[in-house]
Amino acid sequence: PELDRIPHPQRRVPLLGDVLGVNRRTPIQDSMRFARELGPIFRRRAFGKEFVFVWGAPLAADLADESRFAKHVGLGVANLRPLAGDGLFTAYNHEPNWQLAHDVLAPGFSREAMEGYHGMMLAVAERLTGHWDREAAAGRTVDVPGDMTKLTLETIARTGFGHDFGSFERDRPHPFVSAMVGTLTYAQRLNSVPAPLAPLMLRAAARRNAADMAHLNRTVDDLVAARRRSGGGEGDLLDRMLETAHPQTGERLSAENVRKQVITFLVAGHETTSGALSFALYYLARHPEIAARARAEVDRVWGDTERPGYDRIAKLRYVRRVLDESLRLWPTAPAFAREALQDTLLVGDHPMRRGAWALVLTPMLHRDPEVWGEDAERFDPDRFDAGAVRARPPHTFKPFGTGARACIGRQFALHEATLVLGLLLRRYDLRPDPAYRLSVTERLTVMPQGLRLGLDQRPAAA
Ligand code: HEM
Repeated sequence: PELDRIPHPQRRVPLLGDVLGVNRRTPIQDSMRFARELGPIFRRRAFGKEFVFVWGAPLAADLADESRFAKHVGLGVANLRPLAGDGLFTAYNHEPNWQLAHDVLAPGFSREAMEGYHGMMLAVAERLTGHWDREAAAGRTVDVPGDMTKLTLETIARTGFGHDFGSFERDRPHPFVSAMVGTLTYAQRLNSVPAPLAPLMLRAAARRNAADMAHLNRTVDDLVAARRRSGGGEGDLLDRMLETAHPQTGERLSAENVRKQVITFLVAGHETTSGALSFALYYLARHPEIAARARAEVDRVWGDTERPGYDRIAKLRYVRRVLDESLRLWPTAPAFAREALQDTLLVGDHPMRRGAWALVLTPMLHRDPEVWGEDAERFDPDRFDAGAVRARPPHTFKPFGTGARACIGRQFALHEATLVLGLLLRRYDLRPDPAYRLSVTERLTVMPQGLRLGLDQRPAAA
């Protein structure tokens, strides 16, 4: 009865629910379509379960109230529990390892820590430009999401764990990446079949998933064992996980929990950043006037420094806006769930019982015409200049989630991505393929599919 006033698709199939016209490979883009039809709050039914989606700005802002709502571990996130357990991303709010790991690892994302990662981030980015220089010289186009994934995996592996996957020396994705893509895709697919039938319907996929999980666990166990043998790195995330005791309680992470955290950070630390960079490059290639403005800023702020220092990155204000605007249209972790901590009324209107939850559909929140205007679908980085940001209501831009469980890696991702966009803009003119139409692939995250760009090396950087 609480749901009666929330619209749902007209044509419902008995037992199956709202399955007409949907594709199990694109749950987010299907939901975006429903959102446009049904308005700021709507529900979808699948196999007897009802899911509430929210995207109107006042509704999403209310769900951000931490005194009445908190993160809900559900759907895709819950499906990752067998892999990531009580690691930071998948932990239930009440699990003691969340607070413990949060307190132990948060200093790994402080300003000082980030300054320490900068040199390594730059070194990885130079591997990318080395590869792109060769492709440009040979007149070949580059595989943008593939190469961005190499870059972001190497970056988190080296800065966080002192590990080198050798991604740029390989023609095919590293097996760690294939296994990760497999588990993310499987976690998404589990939502598209009735739970009791999953073992039957997904038997082959489940077997592959077990093999993928075993591969990820083995990779991580080897990495941790190597560190234990070598007796400590240079104070990176892995050292913190293995050696740092909680400042108040003196407690440490267990070996089992360390394994969950390493997997969590290797996966959460690269897939979404790779997508964000790929979408940004797509939009830059499509909008040469915006690319020119961004490049002019890089030239001005960096001059002819070969290797920009840590403090030169945050000064790229316009490049950062390009990134924000890309994350507005395509937030690469495209939804997050919030649950009621007590019986309450959402925006004073929709009753929610304690434990009831709703999904915030971020790509639509970021396109709410009431907030972003009638041209919300248009790519325009000026929406993020300081004045425009101040004029917007709070909680209307949420690519990194909200509250206590928001993204711990936000500054890491933004520093890395801004640095890389700066380097690429300075070095290349991007040539889009005029025939390419943006196609977005989903595996809990979103990523442009089949995006290739031509490169012209700029004379100044040659
Ligand atoms: C949490 C997005 C990069 C590690 C989250 C959440 C979002 C998000 C939306 C909240 C999920 C929820 O409420 O269920 C993104 C995006 C990124 C990015 C869009 C890049 C553009 C990173 C990086 C790292 C990271 C680089 C690590 C180095 C985490 C972790 C959590 C998290 C550990 C769980 C935090 C907690 O619950 O305590 N991220 N993220 N993320 N992210 Fe990110």
